Amino acid sequence: MIKARDSTRLLLISLLIGQLYVSCAGSPIDADVKGTDYQDDEYEYGDDTDDDDTQIIDVTKNHAEQEAPPYFDVTDLRVEAKPGDDVILNCDARNFQLSNAVVWYKNRIIIANGQNPISQRVQCMLNNSILLRNVSPEDSDDYYCEILPQRVRQHTALRVGARLSILCDDRDITDRSQTFRQGDHHKLECRTYLPDNATIKWSFNDLNGQPSSVDNQNGVIILDNVDEKNAGDYQCLADDGSRHPPHGTVHIDVQYSPIVSTHRHNVNTEKGATAELYCNYRAKPIGRSYFIKDGKTLQLSDKYSLKDSVHNDHNRTTLIVREVTDSDLGEYLCQVENAIGSNEVKVHVSYNPETPQFEDMTVEGNKVTLHWLVRSHQLLSEAMLDYQLTGSYTWSTVQVLETHRHNNTDNIWKITHQLELSRGVWHARVKTKNTKGWSHFSNDHVFEIPEDSEVDKDEEVELPPDEIVQAGIMPMSKGAASSMQRLNVGVILLAALLLRVRL
Ligand SMILES: *[C@@H]1O[C@H](CO)[C@@H](O)[C@H](O)[C@H]1NC(C)=O
Ligand SMILES: *[C@@H]1O[C@H](CO)[C@@H](O)[C@H](O)[C@H]1NC(C)=O
Ligand SMILES: *[C@@H]1O[C@H](CO)[C@@H](O)[C@H](O)[C@H]1NC(C)=O
Ligand SMILES: *[C@@H]1O[C@H](CO)[C@@H](O)[C@H](O)[C@H]1NC(C)=O
Repeated sequence: MIKARDSTRLLLISLLIGQLYVSCAGSPIDADVKGTDYQDDEYEYGDDTDDDDTQIIDVTKNHAEQEAPPYFDVTDLRVEAKPGDDVILNCDARNFQLSNAVVWYKNRIIIANGQNPISQRVQCMLNNSILLRNVSPEDSDDYYCEILPQRVRQHTALRVGARLSILCDDRDITDRSQTFRQGDHHKLECRTYLPDNATIKWSFNDLNGQPSSVDNQNGVIILDNVDEKNAGDYQCLADDGSRHPPHGTVHIDVQYSPIVSTHRHNVNTEKGATAELYCNYRAKPIGRSYFIKDGKTLQLSDKYSLKDSVHNDHNRTTLIVREVTDSDLGEYLCQVENAIGSNEVKVHVSYNPETPQFEDMTVEGNKVTLHWLVRSHQLLSEAMLDYQLTGSYTWSTVQVLETHRHNNTDNIWKITHQLELSRGVWHARVKTKNTKGWSHFSNDHVFEIPEDSEVDKDEEVELPPDEIVQAGIMPMSKGAASSMQRLNVGVILLAALLLRVRL
């Protein structure tokens, strides 16, 4: 490539020579010329020998005074093109004279001189435009044409899009990362410069790498009310039937206010014991946790200590309350805050048993054996089991009278109970009582008793809705099972409660 400045100078010198020929009416140019017509110029600019450009412009001006100089209506243009396009860059100067010449530059490198292309990429046109055939992203640059000798320029920014780009709110973020805030609204668009028959395919993997579906309309994904679940990698692929279809990926991070929970809403303890309260949370950016009781933030002391731990998909702060007394009972708040917001969870400390947790079950024919675990420092004195067929309005109840410890060190009790049920989908829940009071009911455990040949009248098991209602309003005697049987719904319930000891 010829350096811009050098070539400009070359061109200007040839121009100058041409002009001199005209003005001197064919006189040969030699050293003596300076002494005659050009004496004034020489005098005026004699000291400025380095700046031949300025001198030349002056010479031209002398001879083109009556003509207005060339200029451009617009000096900065933008041209957007797709890969593969043929692009014409214009140099549409007003007052362009025969004495003017055009030089084209690409980012200050000369690419065409008058009608002569210097770069192989360009073709020159008679009207001073240049043609770039089959453009690619590498052709994206700042181009300008310069009219000599006045050196007026017109810039053209040429942008050739990638074959495929992903735009977020109309900004190109292909193969980059972006952070959204919870609740924001954003638009991801996959744009291609391909024949129309390419099919846009979006795919999404969440932060754990799990693929999930993502809705798009004509290549546009609208993310309304952005949430943690929207974080992950979005890939767009333009299936053009080729072996290597164009594709791009963007990584989206989402900042969200803390999500706070606990796996033990009710904590059982006893006088003099140590109670542990768990606060599980996720937050981005990182959250800070506090425990609050009776409106006061708990400070570290002989009474309270805090333990932070990192788990698979959440962090945990554990509050340890020592030497429990009656005044330590009640409601605690765990509050977690970050730059986005704050959230809290309530933990209730009492002497009552904790809410029973379903452990597991076995089904053999129409006999089902269910196991729950309960935590209680105090002796469990009673347990109650409720069960019902889906669609029924009332629960049948079994009173469990005997209770046994499952694990002495952890104060865990196990409740095992066997029922004989007809086929269908059943719900079961338990609550337990210790020397201080009742626990809450466990969550419903839902299970299905599959079709069983031992249950003879299958068709009667399918309760028509009105009979269910009837069952619901029937006064239930203590033996719910017998009242159910009286309704002849084919439900055989063996209230044979087996609370088994497993040490
Ligand atoms: C120059 O010529 C080309 C080809 O004929 C044409 O496409 C282009 O519009 C012309 N430019 C101007 C400024 O007239
Ligand atoms: C799209 O059209 C082009 C040209 O007509 C063809 O070569 C290509 O196979 C088509 N692709 C698909 C996916 O139909
Ligand atoms: C858990 O805490 C660590 C720092 O202790 C932090 O880097 C990480 O982002 C936190 N994780 C969540 C899910 O909040
Ligand atoms: C009680 O459970 C804990 C952990 O769950 C276990 O380490 C301990 O050995 C168990 N104790 C008994 C007596 O089963």
